[in-house]
Amino acid sequence: MPENAQMSVIGKPQPRVDGPLKVSGAAMYASDHHFPGMLYAVPVEATIANGEIWQLDTAAAEKMPGVRAIFHRANIGRIFRSVPGQGFEGICIERRPPFEDDVVRYYGQYVALAVADTFEAAKAATDAVRVTYDQDKPNVETDLKADDDPEVVVTTYGPVRRLQSERGDAVAAFANASVKLDQTYVTPAETHNPIELQATIAIWDGARLTLYEESQGVFNMRGVLAQMFGLPKENVRVITKFVGSGFGSKLWPWTHCPLAAAAARQLGKPVKLVLSRKMTFQTAGHRARTQQRVRLGATPEGKLVSLQHDYVYDRSVLDHYHENCGETTAFHYSVPNLRVEFGRAKRNIGTPSDMRGPGAVPGLYATESAMNELADELKIDPVQLRVLNEPKIDEGLGIPFSSRHFLECLELGAEKFGWSKRNREVGSMKRDGLTLGWGMAGCAWIAARFPAEANVELRDDGTTRVACGTQDIGTGTYTILAQLGAEKTGVPLNKVEVALGDTSLPEGPISGGSMATASVIPAVFAAADNAITSLLSIATTTPGSPFERRKPDELTFEGGRVFVKANGPAGGVPFADLLRRANLRLVTGSGKSEATVGEEKPKFSTHSFGCHFVEVTWQPEIARLRVSRVVTVIDAGRIINPLAGRNQIEGAVVMGIGMALLEHTTYDPQNGAPINSNLADYIVAVNADVPKLDVHFLDFPDKEINQLGARGIGEIGLAGIAAAITSAVYHATGVRARELPIRIEDLLNSSVLV
Ligand code: MOS
Repeated sequence: MPENAQMSVIGKPQPRVDGPLKVSGAAMYASDHHFPGMLYAVPVEATIANGEIWQLDTAAAEKMPGVRAIFHRANIGRIFRSVPGQGFEGICIERRPPFEDDVVRYYGQYVALAVADTFEAAKAATDAVRVTYDQDKPNVETDLKADDDPEVVVTTYGPVRRLQSERGDAVAAFANASVKLDQTYVTPAETHNPIELQATIAIWDGARLTLYEESQGVFNMRGVLAQMFGLPKENVRVITKFVGSGFGSKLWPWTHCPLAAAAARQLGKPVKLVLSRKMTFQTAGHRARTQQRVRLGATPEGKLVSLQHDYVYDRSVLDHYHENCGETTAFHYSVPNLRVEFGRAKRNIGTPSDMRGPGAVPGLYATESAMNELADELKIDPVQLRVLNEPKIDEGLGIPFSSRHFLECLELGAEKFGWSKRNREVGSMKRDGLTLGWGMAGCAWIAARFPAEANVELRDDGTTRVACGTQDIGTGTYTILAQLGAEKTGVPLNKVEVALGDTSLPEGPISGGSMATASVIPAVFAAADNAITSLLSIATTTPGSPFERRKPDELTFEGGRVFVKANGPAGGVPFADLLRRANLRLVTGSGKSEATVGEEKPKFSTHSFGCHFVEVTWQPEIARLRVSRVVTVIDAGRIINPLAGRNQIEGAVVMGIGMALLEHTTYDPQNGAPINSNLADYIVAVNADVPKLDVHFLDFPDKEINQLGARGIGEIGLAGIAAAITSAVYHATGVRARELPIRIEDLLNSSVLV
């Protein structure tokens, strides 16, 4: 870090370096790319959710103008299965390659693919494909009872024990507790709705495949697609320069990716395939429906004595996605007796997948709602209940937290919100003729590092280049990488070139788990250090260099200049001068950092923490409920870019308003279709639903995670917010909603009348 902290670009609100490209339309998203001779593919979607294809009649479609081919099981060519590799390698949630058999397991499953000269011709051809089915009744039952699964189940991320965590004797302690709470909370299927639709463009050049893709993880996609086409990894290149957000839906390859590649192979032309919004509801993942029973036992003073969290989620027929609702349960509060266990229920639906804050977000809705209900039952302030149960260590793993400042979050949040003025009585607080409801909840999200590699160049024109094959999914990774490069090289931000989103670059982390920033910091810093080492060696070996007779360790590099340590920066020489004198265009350094995620025996429990304080207004005359105020405090270590960071938390809170009040994917019991599969019927929170959001970051750098002490912020803002909103709704209306989203019909039972 520069001695003069004023010069540092870390921790400063930096506008996005890629902003001008985006607002001017110059940023090229996957589907913006066009290639000579490119064809358009549109999949045919199954209109049943359970059964078998009986007949597929493509004759009429094949004769339509502009149609090149109608692909199906008999003519698509081989598409292989993929298997997971080491760690986070080879991940694919829907493993069955498209068209592998004639069985239909969910509505919208691809059963054929039309390819034509134009998108319109391809779309028209899909409508002309006649598919008849042997149809069974689909199982899309919303009441979830756990299937008969073994104690250890195989999941997308490896084997998991269904009894996730246990200490003491939770059952006995609950039975003997003087205060008990036993409630079940339900969260619906929710669908990611990034504005940019998923897209793949596939181009073959002999046995080499290039994919322009909307990917949150280009290297994983490369590995999976290489397996699916029986190619060495180095024959596949995945390019993702810009992503119009993902929320997890673009983390892993979906079945349309190999379809586009297979069609391009069969026809010898580039093929573009862009999903419709409807398809994204059917075949590109969603947040699983969950049913979570929470049992709390406590003393009359509010000390927890027992916590049981039993949850069931749904999954597709063939896949093993694990919705880890218990992720935070074992460490969030101090409790001597605890048991967390889960079950799964197969349904005829497309597979669920990671959606922003997977597991913890629905999980914390349940456990934090239970804490709020317990506080009401005990007539204890919900903030106080949490303070009373603050743990000293991670009691689930029996190890210390690397850095936990949950109590400071609560304190600052309560102060900023004015929580001390709360009157606990339901419906008692009024303003401007409206009834107010105040609620709060805590949140947590895992912090860790994926492995990462990076490269940094110092160039003879005084610029620098930072390269790392991670992605920017709209969250600000271009800007973060530029800041890291500027910090280490002293080059101003506007002279830092950032290259990401390409498997030809050093292998970067997925943009997932809120771990990209934490992961790239050590790799970029090591790369820059190595480039600087190379520069210092050149400075001492170039004939005529001012440092010719020095030893490299007598020199140092700071603020873009090389100087003799003993003499101080005054006699420093800019690195560009040294490079030019040596006739070098550039020096380069590579850096690498190891993963911490999935460590066998971690020394510390690394998580971010936070809390939300929410005000709602209730107008019983017209049954109108609005979220009118949210204060959020986040403890995520050092914030590299408070402008981009605040934007992350605000976006997550907006999504939380949607989660609490609006979002749910509904499946038709007749044919298994997600029936609200469009943005008119699947309601997300928009500007008009969102009040001013007040976001605060604590500043406690977590040095266990990287040199800068930065954890992640992409997901934590969505954790806990739904519980804070539902408790505020209870406070305003007297309606205890334990199934999301809260509907107007629920509120008509309000005891707080005109
Ligand atoms: Mo996030 S669900 O890891 O994109």
